[in-house]
Amino acid sequence: MTASKQLIEEIRGRREIQENLLESESRYKTLVENIPDTVIVHINGEIIYINQAGVELLGLKNTDEIIGSPLSKFIHPDYIEIVNQRIEKMNDEGKSVAVLEEKFIRLDGGVIDVETAPMPFIYYGKQAILVVIRDITERKKMEEKLINAAKLDSLSIIAGTIAHDFNNILTAIVGNISVAKLYTKENSELNNILIDAEKYSMKAKNLTTQLLTFTKEGTPVKKIISIKDLIIENTLFVLRGSNITSLFFIKEDLWPVEVDEVQISQVITNVVINARQAMLKGGSLEINGENFIITKDNNNLPLSEGRYVKVSFKDTGIGISEENLAKIFDPYFTTKEKGSGLGLASTFSIIKKHQGYIEVKSKLNQGACFIFYLPATNKKIEEKNQTSINIPHSFNAKILFMDDEQVISELVQKALTKYGFEVETVENGNDAITKYQENILSQRPYDLVILDLSICEGLGGKETIKELIKINPEIKAILSSGYSYESLVSITKEYGFKDYIMKPYKIDDLIKIIIKNLSE
Ligand SMILES: Nc1ncnc2c1ncn2[C@@H]1O[C@H](COP(=O)(O)OP(=O)(O)OP(=O)(O)O)[C@@H](O)[C@H]1O
Ligand SMILES: [Mg+2]
Repeated sequence: MTASKQLIEEIRGRREIQENLLESESRYKTLVENIPDTVIVHINGEIIYINQAGVELLGLKNTDEIIGSPLSKFIHPDYIEIVNQRIEKMNDEGKSVAVLEEKFIRLDGGVIDVETAPMPFIYYGKQAILVVIRDITERKKMEEKLINAAKLDSLSIIAGTIAHDFNNILTAIVGNISVAKLYTKENSELNNILIDAEKYSMKAKNLTTQLLTFTKEGTPVKKIISIKDLIIENTLFVLRGSNITSLFFIKEDLWPVEVDEVQISQVITNVVINARQAMLKGGSLEINGENFIITKDNNNLPLSEGRYVKVSFKDTGIGISEENLAKIFDPYFTTKEKGSGLGLASTFSIIKKHQGYIEVKSKLNQGACFIFYLPATNKKIEEKNQTSINIPHSFNAKILFMDDEQVISELVQKALTKYGFEVETVENGNDAITKYQENILSQRPYDLVILDLSICEGLGGKETIKELIKINPEIKAILSSGYSYESLVSITKEYGFKDYIMKPYKIDDLIKIIIKNLSE
């Protein structure tokens, strides 16, 4: 081969290699440009390449906007240190590091969750790092939802389990206080202290109720009331001892609402506690209550047309940032060191169960205003339970009382005996049936039986009443229960009880129910 021929061959060969190289580079470039994941190449933190997916991920107009910028511009401040450490490690060791979940900031300031897989490589002769970035914002949201759902699940199981025991304990406490009250003079100092203790114990019951609103069993037990007193009473209770001024502007002619008093008290309490916590240095809370009609024309709320009662709580506290505003009703969202983040979540759930709506208006450092709407009712307000009832001093009736909690049986017996009732107690249904059978033949049969729904060992309330009705179809029986998975109203009807009473109850309330049923 002549020298010139050899040269031509050589040149052709080189050109071929070059063409091949170019082709292969363009092939890879097309590949990288079109993959759905973001690819960024940077040299010591300075971005020198980004693909189309990256432009979209970061909300850029084009690639030029970012070439030459520092990578740190797009990394969330919480992650800058760890990212720098990872770059250093890769430069030192020349090896890739493990995938990392971190946060990026888009050009518009939005925060996104990403997963980054970086690897060192030589780019045009220089030591560079190629990072493959995947947007996992949606996946994260989904994960959080699942975790929240799981948390709520476990919460409702725990709530269901402890509520029963908790209410039994409270019944014993409240009951003992009631009995102690009987030994004191009305309006004496001790009497007042005991009345206070009784009130606080009943408040403790709200704790369980709070948890129960998350379970499907937490359906409201509705009563027709005017919520004016409820608002004032609960607000003042929460604000006691604070240096917050409360201003009430509640219309006298507020329409009645049909609500679960305990649950709505919880709503008011939760909102006012938050206001108090937002005004640690003091301030004022303005409460407005008015009637509100929603028509086709003014309906910018997710409520159907109709008559509502609108109540707002406006505080002068620290306010809520725009970012947090969207999250405050989420379960477990809290900005407080010791907050559980359940207050507003349960508030929301209660108002929703009442076919109402709650909204909030707030800006950071400019106070907050929580507004709730509850449907008004056409029905008349039920007569208010008097706190002190006219109980005849001596009541001549014989009662059979079944409860497996000895403390409860003892105190009910003690208290009722003081009023002249004759009370016999049993621990389970089997004994109840035997006693009832024996007595029906005696000269002095029972006038009334009170049966607890769930009994640990032996027959419970349902099984017992079935047998007792066989003995006496006219039997007057009252169902008593703490928290139950079933509706007490429906058990009462279905099994032939005359009435029911929820634990924990005050002795006064028990006596009222007994008297009511004895006189019917
Ligand atoms: N009146 C308010 N002013 C300022 N921020 C509020 C106000 N009410 C609620 N928030 C914000 O909403 C968050 C959620 O409130 P929520 O009542 O659900 O939970 P929490 O108060 O943090 O905890 P918990 O009520 O369970 O003790 C609070 O952490 C707070 O950041
Ligand atoms: Mg709260």
